[in-house]
Amino acid sequence: MNAWHVSADDFPADGYASDQLEFLLNYAILAPSNHNTQPWLFRIGVTDLAVYADRRRALRVVDPLDRELTLSAGAALFNLRVAAEYFGHEYRVELLPDPTEPNLLARFHLGLRADTGAEDVLLFHAITRRHTNRQPFLPDPLPPDLGERLQSAAAREGAWLVCVPEEERRRVLAELIAEADRRQWADPHFRRELAQWVRPKPGATDGIPVQDYGIQDWLAAAGPLILRTFNRGDGQAARDHELATHSPCLALLGTAADTPRDWLQAGQALQHVLLTARTEEVHASFLCQPLEVPELRARTAEVVGQSGYPQVLLRLGYGPEAPPAPRRSPREMLLIQRHHGHA
Ligand SMILES: Cc1cc2nc3c(=O)[nH]c(=O)nc-3n(C[C@H](O)[C@H](O)[C@H](O)COP(=O)(O)O)c2cc1C
Repeated sequence: MNAWHVSADDFPADGYASDQLEFLLNYAILAPSNHNTQPWLFRIGVTDLAVYADRRRALRVVDPLDRELTLSAGAALFNLRVAAEYFGHEYRVELLPDPTEPNLLARFHLGLRADTGAEDVLLFHAITRRHTNRQPFLPDPLPPDLGERLQSAAAREGAWLVCVPEEERRRVLAELIAEADRRQWADPHFRRELAQWVRPKPGATDGIPVQDYGIQDWLAAAGPLILRTFNRGDGQAARDHELATHSPCLALLGTAADTPRDWLQAGQALQHVLLTARTEEVHASFLCQPLEVPELRARTAEVVGQSGYPQVLLRLGYGPEAPPAPRRSPREMLLIQRHHGHA
């Protein structure tokens, strides 16, 4: 797989702010996004970077309001912040700076030089080490203080996080996940959208490798057709039920309200949580299906006993390393190509 490679040694420490911002994009794009759509665009200014939603990459069936799309851009924004701090720069972020331009999700201003803290270093190194890990986790419990640290990471970004350690509530959540899988797969529009983002051949720079859907190599070429044609909902539900009940921790992240600003905050909180977990060698994967079905989303909040709007459901635990997912080059995501080499 052609994961995007970047070396921190190449940061243009003495370059123009615009070159530094362009370099930071190498880290922004390592954020997670549903179906690996990478739904963001960037415009580089003299000392600032504008983050836009790329709605051509929206998932109209599974994410009709672009909630998850906006959340993913929030996660990319968090990576920008961590990378700026690691390379020793202050920054300032404006969320949704222009009400007349809803696609402009954030403006990121690069500031003066500043000291790098120890936490920045740890979080920064976790950016390239974080991959969605869809394999079963070991039964080993998580470090006792990790739950609290993840909660405070989410709180610092304006979100809440509830870890659900008890077996009974985990079982109910697992049932909601399985129910959501069955409902989604029963919808041919869901299957068609999924098939559009499944990549049968190695070398793709976005989307999900077909093998991640349990399709064997010899069937890979027919993978998108298989996914589109057959309702594999029962199989997916059984697999996800098993994963959810046997992970040492399920964590629900949410916000008090449910506006694009909340989604951007939830995305930053998500990435803060995922990177913090990774600093402790803890892996995560997403079980967001019940949050993508409106009735089940409300039910999920009730089960966890939290008021507000659940945004992401995660499974956390220890396990073998997961392979990196592919990425497009940041140059493909620039709204205006910059021209180098002229005076
Ligand atoms: C909001 C959101 C929802 C997601 N939902 C799922 C999911 O239901 N199933 C899944 O396997 N991965 C899910 N993912 C993970 C993406 O597939 C993954 O982030 C993407 O393929 C990029 O891979 P990486 O996270 O390893 O960098 C989700 C990611 C986000 C941000």
